[in-house]
Amino acid sequence: MLKEVLWWFNIRERGVYLDCTVGAGGHSRAILDEMRGKVRIIGIDRDEEALKIASQELKEYKEQTTLIKANFRDLPQVIKEENVGLVNGIIYDLGLSSMQLDSQTRGFSFRWSAPLDMRMDSSQALTAAHLVGELSQKELEDIFFELGEERWARRIAEFIVEERRQNPIKTTSNLLEVMRRAVPAKFRRGRRTHFATRVFQALRIRVNEELENLRVSLSYSFDLLQKEGRVCVISYHSLEDRIVKQKFNEAKEEKLNILTKKVIRPSKKEVRINPRARSARLRVAERI
Ligand SMILES: C[S@@+](CC[C@H](N)C(=O)[O-])C[C@H]1O[C@@H](n2cnc3c(N)ncnc32)[C@H](O)[C@@H]1O
Repeated sequence: MLKEVLWWFNIRERGVYLDCTVGAGGHSRAILDEMRGKVRIIGIDRDEEALKIASQELKEYKEQTTLIKANFRDLPQVIKEENVGLVNGIIYDLGLSSMQLDSQTRGFSFRWSAPLDMRMDSSQALTAAHLVGELSQKELEDIFFELGEERWARRIAEFIVEERRQNPIKTTSNLLEVMRRAVPAKFRRGRRTHFATRVFQALRIRVNEELENLRVSLSYSFDLLQKEGRVCVISYHSLEDRIVKQKFNEAKEEKLNILTKKVIRPSKKEVRINPRARSARLRVAERI
């Protein structure tokens, strides 16, 4: 949703912009290109690999860019350490990058056999294998149901606990195999969404505490904006979007003017070119 972001973000020359999810640097690069480098970008990511890619992508704007390995829930510290004062805009493009999703070793995808890792920040201790190996059946069921809206949550949790009594579930293919047994055949075939998608999503959200991070970060971020500074949030599922909507509404009138009365969805053309964009939802608000 690059075009939409550029339009809504209302970028100004010499402004300071905080890209909380710099990823491969796509949004930051577009902002820098648009202003021919006459802005400053502070780009944050939890993922060391992403920052390496971003620094390549943004190398011609080295002077104008500061890349920082951090969790966006620690935004106030990052801003303080960078000594920037209030910023002109903040963007969040949530979820996983294509680099993470397509990695054959990091365990985010069931398309390859890999350790059940799923950490965005590889220095973190907790992995998906810990959750699958150690949580109780009820805790697993709740994660699959609440974070994945998985209708077979109870059965899958039951099969996992049964399986791990004999064999540890350490890889994406171990987990996929258990799920194949737990989910009835007629619910596995011919579906638009692969039968493992929701459980993988749920585990990933829990490993990375994605919802809590977003909630905490949005509680601070409006106070880091200058007057008329804008916050843009692109989310990819309803749990995230609900938090964004709620946080915007809580700050409405006192701190924010909500600019997107209805959520913005990607164009049909964009979804055709990039099917992963199909679930994207953009919300934008302006600091009063
Ligand atoms: C969808 S990608 C961003 C893609 C980016 N906008 C681009 O144009 O290349 C999301 C990125 O956010 C990062 N991320 C997710 N949660 C984060 C958090 N709490 N703190 C910092 N980075 C986070 C992920 O590691 C990932 O690289």
